[in-house]
Amino acid sequence: MHGTFTDNDLSHVIEADKAHVWHHLVQHKPFESSDPRIIVEGKGMRVWDQNGKEWLDAVSGAVWTVNVGYGRESICKAVYDQMIKMCYFAQAAGSVPGALYAEKLIEKMPGMSRVYYCNSGSEANEKAFKMVRQIAHKKYGGKKTKILYRDRDYHGSTLAAMSAGGQDERNAQYGPFAPDFVRVPHCMEYRKHELGLDHLSGEDFGIAAANLIEEVILREGPETVGALCLEPVTAGGGVIEAPEGYWPRVQEICKQYDVLLHIDEVVCGIGRTGTHWFGYQHYGIKPDFVTMAKGVASGYAAIACMVTTEEVFDLFKNDASDKMNYFRDISTFGGCTAGPAAALENMRIIEDENLLENCTKMGERMMSNLRALQEKHTVIGDVRGKGLFLGAELVTDRDTKEPVDEALAQKVVAECGTHGVIIGVTNRSVPGRNNTLCFSPALIATADDIDKITDAVDKALTTVFG
Ligand SMILES: Cc1ncc(COP(=O)(O)O)c(C=O)c1O
Repeated sequence: MHGTFTDNDLSHVIEADKAHVWHHLVQHKPFESSDPRIIVEGKGMRVWDQNGKEWLDAVSGAVWTVNVGYGRESICKAVYDQMIKMCYFAQAAGSVPGALYAEKLIEKMPGMSRVYYCNSGSEANEKAFKMVRQIAHKKYGGKKTKILYRDRDYHGSTLAAMSAGGQDERNAQYGPFAPDFVRVPHCMEYRKHELGLDHLSGEDFGIAAANLIEEVILREGPETVGALCLEPVTAGGGVIEAPEGYWPRVQEICKQYDVLLHIDEVVCGIGRTGTHWFGYQHYGIKPDFVTMAKGVASGYAAIACMVTTEEVFDLFKNDASDKMNYFRDISTFGGCTAGPAAALENMRIIEDENLLENCTKMGERMMSNLRALQEKHTVIGDVRGKGLFLGAELVTDRDTKEPVDEALAQKVVAECGTHGVIIGVTNRSVPGRNNTLCFSPALIATADDIDKITDAVDKALTTVFG
């Protein structure tokens, strides 16, 4: 048996799990006749399950999180040292790693200035939403409370984050949602026919897709719209990069209508898209809020950050005589020092090991491998993404773009498993669109790892679709 566990220990763990653990985003009925996968150990790009089986993890902990790979002793040591010295104090006071990480992070984010710590991506987004609402009350007499979000984007699992959720299967049965969240159309070129824009392509399409946001602002009334919240590359909604021309037009629209721009970097943040630290930095945009979580400490500790500009910060401190004039929010676990201690070491590793460059290089290799698979397998309708954040959309017919049945997409994932590779697929996301295979290997991936992943996909597609 692997590591320090005996067979007996592990059968007890499996029984305890089956009896008492409620897993996320999976049906539990199958666990009555089969065992859940228990991940026992991880090193680099690989993990081992309860049966000692080795897996090559192409999704960084299933939800694009472990950016620097498993088993990083230097992160564990940094967390250990920090926790022995000072584990926790609420954030009305500062902490040594909190101050040092904020300084390092802001160095990587020209134009941004303040870091608010909390403990999940959903929570970070909620902080930004609350700030938008408070600004509406303070600066606009209670107007400009509306927050726009985009079809197919996701911002978290709490109720306000779901109110900004563009994935109707995720949201189904959890309403009613919070008021004043308004949806704008997606910007996906592959499915531009859904937007009535199939006559346009390239930059023309990008500008037209951004103009659909302007239409919503004009319909709602610009005096009611406070913010626009977007993923730089849509993740769980299908790995969608916005087309050329989209982002400059989005920025113009926000400026014209005095709408704050909130970029959700929970997935893209800290290197996942390659070359830059953040997804938005590829497109030259200047956000007012940037939220991040998963890759901040690669899952070694729970940490999320909500980052704003000095202009936003100033709105919350410019009148000390007003006893309500500050961000009246608390995040208990935002005060855990393990988060910023791990994040500092995570950032050092990315810099010292040149992982932003490796991510770009390996992302290009993976993209080219996937394009070769697209040539070979007609079921791949589209491949897209940025850096080591890629998707392959499966369709029954390239002309109609009819999605494959989700059971078949899941079969491809299971088949990859028989070859020892864990990949992902869009899951209970956009109705009828759970058909995009997802890849987000750790930024340490080698050419050999990438080829092993795409070889497994090749074999799996042949088994499932012939
Ligand atoms: C883009 C995006 N934003 C926010 C979240 C929510 O993060 P968390 O699960 O840490 O609350 C996620 C989670 O997958 C995400 O993909």
